[in-house]
Parts: sequence; structure tokens; C-alpha cells
Amino acid sequence: MEKADRLALLRMADELGPVFKGRGWGSPWIYVVGLPRCRRILRAHEDDLHPVTIDVGALFDKGILRQMEGEDHRRYRSALVQAIQALPADRAWGQVPRIGQSLEGLTGRQDAAPMGAQTFRSLIARIVFDELAQVIFGVEPGEPAHNPLVAAYGELGGNGLVWNIGTRQARAFAAIAAILRQHLATMEASRTTNTSVLANLQQHGAVDAVMLGNLIYMVEMGRYDMAAFFRWLTWFAAMHPDWMDRIADGTDTQQSVAAAFVMEALRLEQAERLVRRVKRDFVAEGFLFPKGANVRFCIWESHKSPEAHAEPFRFDPGRFLGERPGPDRYSPFGIDRHQCPFGSYSVRLGAAFVAALATHFHVGPSGSGKAVRGLYHWEPAEDFSPVLTARKRQPTNGAHP
Ligand code: HEM
Repeated sequence: MEKADRLALLRMADELGPVFKGRGWGSPWIYVVGLPRCRRILRAHEDDLHPVTIDVGALFDKGILRQMEGEDHRRYRSALVQAIQALPADRAWGQVPRIGQSLEGLTGRQDAAPMGAQTFRSLIARIVFDELAQVIFGVEPGEPAHNPLVAAYGELGGNGLVWNIGTRQARAFAAIAAILRQHLATMEASRTTNTSVLANLQQHGAVDAVMLGNLIYMVEMGRYDMAAFFRWLTWFAAMHPDWMDRIADGTDTQQSVAAAFVMEALRLEQAERLVRRVKRDFVAEGFLFPKGANVRFCIWESHKSPEAHAEPFRFDPGRFLGERPGPDRYSPFGIDRHQCPFGSYSVRLGAAFVAALATHFHVGPSGSGKAVRGLYHWEPAEDFSPVLTARKRQPTNGAHP
């Protein structure tokens, strides 16, 4: 139903109330709309609810952070958060020139013509993978570990997250772990350090098989999420040239305007839902949440509430300039103790992407323009790709034109 009509759950919440029940994939589901309500239930019943996510039990113990609970979750999460906090503050925003360079290669060739949708996807996928390999593992393009990593990740997933782990994933996972152990050994032998998450964890003796497995899957899941998000950002860039002009002017507000653009894109599109399974019966908001039921906390729908955001379907990054909405109005990175540890980093990296795009190009749309429900998320139309026109000539001899 939702695939056919994106507003279906929002309409049902209007008709039936903000908590309602249904069936999906043969199981009972409970839908909760409204961030204050989602937060109340998650807070009061965190221990009664289990996050639903990919099962990597065949690859390493304890699973990924999202499915860990109790002491395990506290321990691995706090080590990870410390390692992220130890990254340089401008790590993501500092990528504007590098991303710009990757995009720049398109000037001339793509001028005023839509580039093939697949070419665009591949370019974005490469930008994102190179960035994540660097920030998580400290592996730069050109380093010996880089190409083997690219090849092994191609085996692990390639076209999207593989939900059911098979022998191919097990082989690829083992290959990635071996490359990273070798990379760590080389780093130690040459006494070089870098500022990646892996290197920061290693310094604190926090890299065991579980943490390594988690980092490998962070890159695997993060690369699809970020690539999908970069496609949305490009789509918004094509639809809202006025905001891109504002970002292109490069004044000292550039970063905050680009970040506001990113936050608004998250509100309108990428942030969708949190899914939990009920571990034991409980009652909340007057409803029984029976053991075994799935709960969908509807973030996308909650972000469209007129109480949370005036004219909720209008793209207006201005909402995020100045006063910042609190978590009862805006929660794209989760609500409970599983909130995304890469939230701020992702906003800054998205902002760097938008700024690089705005600096180099006027971005126009192509394709049908309608959002489609992909494998896991809503996405811009299959045939969407931007029409890029160089914003200004790049200096060829080091001198500005
Ligand atoms: C726009 C980009 C992103 C969005 C919208 C996003 C969103 C989220 C959300 C909503 C959660 C909470 C899930 C839940 O409660 O069930 C989460 C958790 C998480 N995210 Fe992200 N994320 C993004 C990018 C990333 C990236 C790039 C990485 C790493 C490379 C990452 C790593 C994680 C991890 C490890 C968790 C689990 C934390 C825990 O369970 O304690 N995310 N993310």
C-alpha cells in the first residue's frame, strides 16, 4: 500500500489516530506517528523493544551495534563514539575540494547534457566509498590496500546491502578483515598514524573481531545510505537553484547554509522510520503492544506534522538557519540509545557535497522527477540524473580568470 501511495500512512493516522495496527509480510505491525509520542514510547519501553536489522551472526559474534543490548552495546558504542570524536572537527567539511575535484572531471564532457543515470550513480558511489574507506579505515585512494578493498567490497554487496549472508559474503568479509589487519600491521611497523576511526580505536586497544566486523559493516551499510542521500541532495539541488546560488557565493555562511540545505533534505526525504520488535507484552498510549509484533516509528510522516514544521511539504532550509528545532520536531538520526553516532559527520559531509556541487555547477533536473520506493528506501526516480553546466571556468594556469 505504501509503495503505491507514499502518503498512505499519514492518511491512516489522520483517519484512525496516531497509533494504529496492520499486517505486513504476514506479521502484525503497529504504526506510531508523531515524534513526541515515538520518544515517549521508546523511552519508557526501550528494554521491551529490540531493533530489527541485518543478522550478521554468520560473520562475527554479538552482531552489529544496532542489535546489541545492555553492557555490550554500552561498551562498543562508547569506544566508537570516542574514536569519532577524536577525528579532526573539520574532517567532513574539509572534503569540499576533494569532492569538487571528483566532480570537476565532468565539466565540459557533461556540459548542459544529462549524464547517464548509471554514470552518475557510479560517480557518487565512488566518492562515498573513497571517503568512508578513508575516514573509517584510514585507507586513501592510491594506497596498496585501496584497490583490494574496492574489489572485496564489490563481492560483499556491490549493488546494495545483501540481507541474507551467503558464502560469497563470508568470503568477501574474510578478505576485507585480512586486508585491514595487514593495513594495521603496516601502520604499526612504520609507526605511521592517521586520524581514522580504526586508528583511533587501535590506539585504545579497542579493535577486536567484533569491532572490526562492525567497522566493515559500517562502511558496507553507510556507503549505500550516503550514496542514496547524495542522490537526494543532487535532486534537491536541481529543483532549488536559488539555494544553490546562495551556497555558491562562498561567503562565511556557506557551511551553515549548506548544512541547513542538508537537514531540510533529510527532513523531507531520507529520514524514514525506526523498526523494533516487541520482546514482551506492554501497554502504551492505551494500546497493547503484543510480544512478537513489529513497531514502525514513522519518522518521515512525523516530520510532516504541521505542529512540528509550518508548511511541512515545502522545501525551506531557512527553518534550520537560526533556531534549531528540538528532538520533538526533528529527529532524522534516531531517538533512543541507538541514535546515529555519525549524525553530525553525515550532515557535514552532505554539506561538503552540496557546496562542491554548487561551486562547480548549475544543476538542472532530468528524468521523470517522481520519487520511487527502492529496495529499502524512497529514492529519486530511477532515470534521474542531473544536467550540469559549469558555473565558472576553472583556472587552468593557477590564475583566476
Ligand atoms: C544521511 C545519513 C545517515 C542517516 C539518515 C542515518 C540514520 C541513522 C538512524 C535513524 C539510526 C538509528 C537506527 C535505529 O534506532 O534503529 C542510525 C544508527 C546508526 N548509524 Fe547512521 N545514518 C546515516 C549515516 C551513517 C553513516 C555514514 C554511518 C557509518 C559509516 C552510520 C552508522 C550508524 C551506526 C553504527 C548506527 C547504530 C548506532 C547504535 O546502535 O548505537 N550512519 N543511523
